[in-house]
Amino acid sequence: MNSNQGLKKMREPDDDIREALDELPYGVYVIGSSDGQMPNAMIADWVMQISFNPRLLLVSFEKDSSSLSRIRKHRFFTANLLNQENNGMALAAQFVQPANTAKIKGRGDQTDSTPRNKLDGVEYRIGEHAVACPILEDALAFLECEAKEFIDAGDHVLAIGSVLYGEVQQFGEPLTSTYTGWTYSG
Ligand SMILES: Cc1cc2nc3c(=O)[nH]c(=O)nc-3n(C[C@H](O)[C@H](O)[C@H](O)COP(=O)(O)O)c2cc1C
Repeated sequence: MNSNQGLKKMREPDDDIREALDELPYGVYVIGSSDGQMPNAMIADWVMQISFNPRLLLVSFEKDSSSLSRIRKHRFFTANLLNQENNGMALAAQFVQPANTAKIKGRGDQTDSTPRNKLDGVEYRIGEHAVACPILEDALAFLECEAKEFIDAGDHVLAIGSVLYGEVQQFGEPLTSTYTGWTYSG
């Protein structure tokens, strides 16, 4: 028996739940925020429309996300849906942060351990409706939102924003978690 066999881990019932949750497909978004002056951006999977009238968009944030604290103060945010075309995967990698790599499988060597401005070298403009928040030029589509409500949900906080404006700005297919193979789930 080699040492690897000796260390073989028993499957837990929780592994089945995690695997099932890992099958849920998500769009890959870059959430733009601002402190009123400096724009910031973070990658997020947990984004969805939750009402037609009024149009409301929900984003689920980690409690310690700096984007969340900016949005709590400044209220506005953008949701940039990335594109499979036009090197969208490389653009997504620009926004993957190293802090929590353990829980996000599949990022592998795409992470960069040196802190940096995530928008460095990325083409963006500032939203006309979501004041001071970035819209990525290479996003397939974007939505500009104003946060209306924050709700605690387990280890995350749900930010609900009314949709002020939105546009499809490129041809292509949306970048999805199925396409990237990166999972933020389980
Ligand atoms: C593929 C992927 C999806 C993610 N989805 C979310 C998400 O939906 N919500 C969230 O709060 N963090 C998510 N994260 C983690 C954030 O991007 C990460 O915590 C980031 O550092 C927060 O940045 P900020 O501190 O600049 O706001 C995701 C990370 C990856 C790699």
